[in-house]
Formats: sequence, structure tokens, C-alpha cells
Amino acid sequence: MNQDNSPKPVPAPKAVPVSVVVMAAGKGTRMKSERPKVLHRIAGRAMLSHVLGTVEQLTAANDLQKVVVITGHGAEVVEAHLASPNGPANLPLEFARQMPQLGTGHAVQQAVPYLPDDGVVVILNGDVPLIQADTVQALIQASAGQHLALLTVQLADPTGYGRIVRQGAAAQGAVLAIVEHKDATPEQRAIQEIYTGIMAAPAKWLKKAVSQLQNSNSQGEFYLTDIVAMAVAEGLPVVGQITTDEVQVAGVNSPVQLAELERAFQQRQAAAFMEAGVRLADPARFDVRGQLQCGSDVEVDVNCIFDGQVRLGNRVRIGANCFIANVQIADDAVIHPFTHIDGEKPGVVVGEGALIGPFARLRPGAVLGAEVHIGNFVEVKNSTLAQGAKANHLAYLGDATVGERVNYGAGSITANYDGANKHRTVIEADVHVGSNSVLVAPITLGAGGTVGAGSVVSKDTPAGALTVTRARQTSLVNWTRPAKATPVKTKK
Ligand code: UD1
Ligand code: MG
Repeated sequence: MNQDNSPKPVPAPKAVPVSVVVMAAGKGTRMKSERPKVLHRIAGRAMLSHVLGTVEQLTAANDLQKVVVITGHGAEVVEAHLASPNGPANLPLEFARQMPQLGTGHAVQQAVPYLPDDGVVVILNGDVPLIQADTVQALIQASAGQHLALLTVQLADPTGYGRIVRQGAAAQGAVLAIVEHKDATPEQRAIQEIYTGIMAAPAKWLKKAVSQLQNSNSQGEFYLTDIVAMAVAEGLPVVGQITTDEVQVAGVNSPVQLAELERAFQQRQAAAFMEAGVRLADPARFDVRGQLQCGSDVEVDVNCIFDGQVRLGNRVRIGANCFIANVQIADDAVIHPFTHIDGEKPGVVVGEGALIGPFARLRPGAVLGAEVHIGNFVEVKNSTLAQGAKANHLAYLGDATVGERVNYGAGSITANYDGANKHRTVIEADVHVGSNSVLVAPITLGAGGTVGAGSVVSKDTPAGALTVTRARQTSLVNWTRPAKATPVKTKK
């Protein structure tokens, strides 16, 4: 973050009250989507939620008074999204509807009734999702309730943006005005410093200024940016704060820009994980759509997606092409390629040194102890497996309690559902379940017992016993396989 030579802001007294306006009424025509633009997702989370997440971080250092979200297009959907559990928990949130949308200045006019007179108002955009709290904090500091502080950036191609007009040399002189692209002269269009759409203004002054806006411009809109020239005319100091981080101030108008920002965000996350010692086979093929915590010496192969809340212990290894969501994986566990874990309510737990996959599926409530092995094409749901239990091939464990060292044979399943209710299967320690068995729940297999392969077990089995339910094998030694009748050949 650089600062220009305009009047030096005094450091904000810590108590300067802060309010925030988030503009989210625009249509987002270029998204070509029924979903309101600000609800399109970056890293699995609505852009507007990213912005409000940043606002939540501001509460640590500021007395946050109001957060006003301007809604318009898709207002009901946007408001409902923020009211649901996705919404910010601890913000003094208000919605102000803007119907119709007559420009950014008109948008802020809708927020005026909700805004207190004291302190600073920060303007953010719902479609500029990656703005960071420290950048906004610096802008609040620059305003300090006494200056108009604008966040600006130099762009190689400034087409379409509002240009920062300064006195004298670019990025040196005092800010005089923002001129919108469509209203700019050829000389002004050559200016590469643009307004990012983010500003901090003295609350009382802003409220008065937006009430005086005119729409006499090429678009017939009320431009919020016209308040800059007003400030200059009134002698209110204007600070142009230049950021060099284009990603933080990039807006999303199209699916292409959404995808670009998704990649930029993921690469930043990847860089931060590598910085912390996580070894990524390829940071360009690594996606985190939630919260990932890693211990030391974690290794992640290519094309893995982490979703929801995921915790990886020390020395955990994740193979290629895994989807890993809402799970705690303990130290030294290995997740082999193509494993699908989704512990969305209740979560999944993988114990120390467990081996999972390849091609395993762990569903909600799978709780695996230390050194459990879950092999290829094995599905586990709402089941606990104690230390050393193994289900290595082609099996289903649902609503089961599996004891230590149980060996669950290939092709075996718990028949846990009778068409109306789910029932539990209890497999006590050291049981061997032979291949291709069906355990009809509710049922308990006593400790140390064995189930012969191919059994359909529907009654509890005693400890230590061999249980076989299939027909006894017999062989007919003098049996002859039927043969086709040989066609009789007739002589010509
Ligand atoms: C605006 C700025 C421009 C800046 C650019 C940065 C103005 C007049 N111009 O231009 O200087 O370089 O952002 O991206 O402010 N919105 C509403 N209600 C409206 C109009 C817009 O809520 O009536 C919202 C939009 O949803 C969006 C934001 O305000 O989140 C910016 O609107 P947009 O139409 O993108 O403004 P630009 O013309 O791009
Ligand atoms: Mg725009």
C-alpha cells in the first residue's frame, strides 16, 4: 500500500465509529445468470459473503455501528441468503432496497436513513470480493472521519473505469475529481490511475453530499464519484490511496472474471499453505473451499479439493484426485487417490495411521480409529470402526459399530434399512466376516466369531463360533453335463 503526497491523514483515534455500505443492487447482466451477481461464488462462498467476512474482521479494531447492504436486483434472494446460516452472525446488518437503480450515488442515498452522523462511512462493492481488512483499515485511518479517502489502482488498461484526475503529475498531485470513462476527454482517458469503487468518507459530510448529486452526465445516473469534486470545492481534503494489489480490487462482471478471481484466490491460499510448510505437488491444482488446517509435513498430490471444515494432522498424505470435506484426519493417516470424503453433519473422523482408499467413500458419521484400513470401493456411513479394523474391498458399512481388529470381507454389506427404519449392526472385536456376507440388522456378532463367506446372517451370533448360513456344498461325482444333440449328416 503506497500513499501519495496529498494531505497526510492524522492517525484515527481508535474510537472513530465506522459504518459500512455494501453496494449489491446491480444486475450483473454479463453473468447471463438468474442468480444475483453478488451470490455467485468464489471458493464455494458467495462474493457478498466474502465482503461481509472482511467487514466482520473490521470489528476487531473499530466501533462498527451499521452495515447497510443495498439490494435491488434479486433483493429477496440476496436478503434471504444473508439471513440463512450463511449470513454474518455478529454484524449490525440492515438492508436498503434500491428500486429502480439510478446509479451508485442513488444507491448510497438509500443507505442514508440508516447511517449515523458521526465517524466514517466505508463504501464497498458486493462484486469486489477479495478486498482485505487491512486495506480497508488503512482507508479508514486515512479518512479518520475528516478526509475523503479513495482507494485507487494503476491499470495497464483502464478502459471503463472512473479516472483519478490529479493536479500536475500523475499519482503525485492532489486529487481533483473522478471522471467516469464515458464522460472523460481523450486526455483524461489516458490516465491509468482509476477509482476502485472503494472509499471512506466522513459520515455527516457524505450524507449531505449525496443529497446534492445531479444526474446530468452521459449515462443520466447519479454518480457517487461526483462527490470528489464537491469535496475539493468545499476544501475537504481528499486522499488518493494507491494499492498495487489488483486482485483485492478486481470486480466480477462475467463468468470469465469470476473464474480468473477464483484462480487468483486459490493460488494465494496455496502460497500461504506452502509458506506454512505444506507440500503441494502443484499449487495450480489445489482448491480450498472452506477452512483447511494442516499440521506439519502434510503432503497433497494434484487435483485435490478441500471443502467445509477440514483438519489434517502431522505427516498426513493426500493422494491425487481426492474430494475431502468436513473431516478430521489424525497424524500419519494416508488418503490414497480418488477418495471421496464428505462429513457434512455429522463429521467424519479418520484415526492415526489409518489407510483410506484408493476409491473409498466416507460419508457423514464415519468415525475410524487408529490404523483402520478402508480400501477400494468401500463405503462407510454413520459407523464407528475401532483400532485396526479393516474393510479392504467392495463393501458397505452403514449404522455399524465395529470392534478392534475386525476383518470385514470383500463384498460384504450391512443390510441396515428395512424400508422404513435404519437398524444397527454390532460387530464385536476380532470378528472375521467372510466375503460376500449380508448382515441383516439389527444384529450383533459376538467377539472373535467368524462368518462363513456368502452367509446371510439375520440372528445374533455367539462369541468365538463359526456361523455359516449358506447351503452345505455337495459334489455329484458321476454327473454328466448335458450335451447338444449332434446333427445327423446325410450323404448326398
Ligand atoms: C463504478 C465507479 C467507477 C469505478 C468503478 C470500479 C461510479 C459512478 N463509478 O463504475 O468510478 O471505476 O465502479 O469498478 O460509481 N450499484 C448499485 N446501484 C446502482 C448502480 C450500481 O447498487 O444503481 C452497485 C453495483 O451492483 C456494483 C457497484 O454499485 O456493485 C458499482 O456499480 P457499477 O455499475 O459496476 O459501476 P461502474 O459503472 O462500473
Ligand atoms: Mg462495474
